[in-house]
Amino acid sequence: MGRNAWFETVAEAQRRAKKYLPRTVYDALVAGSERGRTLEDNLDAFTEVGFAPRVVGHQAQRDLSTTVLGVETALPVVISPTGVQAVHPDGEVAVARAAANRDVIMGLSSFASKPVEEVAAANPKTFYQMYWTGTREAMSQRMERARAAGAKALIATLDWSFSHGRDWGSPEIPDRIDLKTAVKFAPKVLPHPRWLWTFAKSGRIPDLTTPNLRSPGGEAPTFFGAYGEWMQTPPPTWDDVKWMREEWGGPFLLKGVTRVDDAKRAVDIGVSAISVSNHGGNNLDTTPATIRVLPSVAEAVGDQIEVLLDGGVRRGSDVAKALALGARAVLIGRAYLWGLGAGGQGGVENVLDILRGGLDSAVLGLGHSSVHELSPDDLVIPGGFTRTLGATRTADPLST
Ligand SMILES: Cc1cc2nc3c(=O)[nH]c(=O)nc-3n(C[C@H](O)[C@H](O)[C@H](O)COP(=O)(O)O)c2cc1C
Repeated sequence: MGRNAWFETVAEAQRRAKKYLPRTVYDALVAGSERGRTLEDNLDAFTEVGFAPRVVGHQAQRDLSTTVLGVETALPVVISPTGVQAVHPDGEVAVARAAANRDVIMGLSSFASKPVEEVAAANPKTFYQMYWTGTREAMSQRMERARAAGAKALIATLDWSFSHGRDWGSPEIPDRIDLKTAVKFAPKVLPHPRWLWTFAKSGRIPDLTTPNLRSPGGEAPTFFGAYGEWMQTPPPTWDDVKWMREEWGGPFLLKGVTRVDDAKRAVDIGVSAISVSNHGGNNLDTTPATIRVLPSVAEAVGDQIEVLLDGGVRRGSDVAKALALGARAVLIGRAYLWGLGAGGQGGVENVLDILRGGLDSAVLGLGHSSVHELSPDDLVIPGGFTRTLGATRTADPLST
């Protein structure tokens, strides 16, 4: 990052990303669905939970490190997989380098713009994410490739239902950027000379292909070609997910769980971890914020598997709240995307430093020496805050 590139909050990173990125790219990161209610609730719910700080007894040394699926990390924060197409020429490799520099785990989407081999070389602590798309044979090949590249865990993301409409309008994204589309999109891109310049310097044009979904000997499909295949693939059963876990054979994280009954089924088929997730508010709108459903899921299965959370994390204090409510770690999506848009690799490092600083302040103020000591006793949880989905119980664990 250049001089004065440093930003103090993720909100500032987002403002800068909005200024630097072409509108279509910015809007693709905002994402969301329908009215954007879940998108908002993911953020708002974190502000409804308060802290109960201690006045004396603060600890001079504080340990923020933990392990996720057996992999050590300096922070209980994992890079959530996103297809960061066209945000930055180095894309996921820049994110992986930033995560490696801060000793944080990198989650790589199979829809990403960079091959898993390059990303895992930049950050050996890489988890590889897949959707249920294509034939079992193709999925096996993709898993084998990720394993050979050194991926330490598989993330299976299954909470997607192809809902696309947004009340505020969806961005128009070209299938491939060639001269013709460059001319078509020029009026939208030209007011963003810095973004264009970053790509011009790199000698590359944004590459909307998915190299990790290439079949052996074939070409990398375009993003929308891959999306089409996914839409046409019959959705998986629990037996299919079990097959996927067995085929992978290593640590396996099921991402997208919100219901207690699903969490229990996931335990039954032998997953190592789940992420309580609503896909960052991009799946079914009006699904409650993940922080509201976390306590019920953590209570049901937290003693058997690792429970993670993603959705709405923008501050270190959000990380502290999620851990206090039963998460082992969180995954972040837009927070690092805004950093990437605002300042490339340095911007992502800046975001991780913001989260570290905020988490450290929370642990200090709450009188703890380790993130493992965080508990509901550190929080003020308003009545009716939590939601229990997919369980016959009437009482929520924290609303009594
Ligand atoms: C632009 C964008 C692309 C995403 N792409 C993927 C993806 O390819 N695979 C996946 O598992 N999740 C994907 N997600 C969901 C994120 O991994 C994560 O669940 C979500 O962003 C968390 O919410 P947050 O952005 O509020 O942190 C995407 C999210 C965004 C915003």
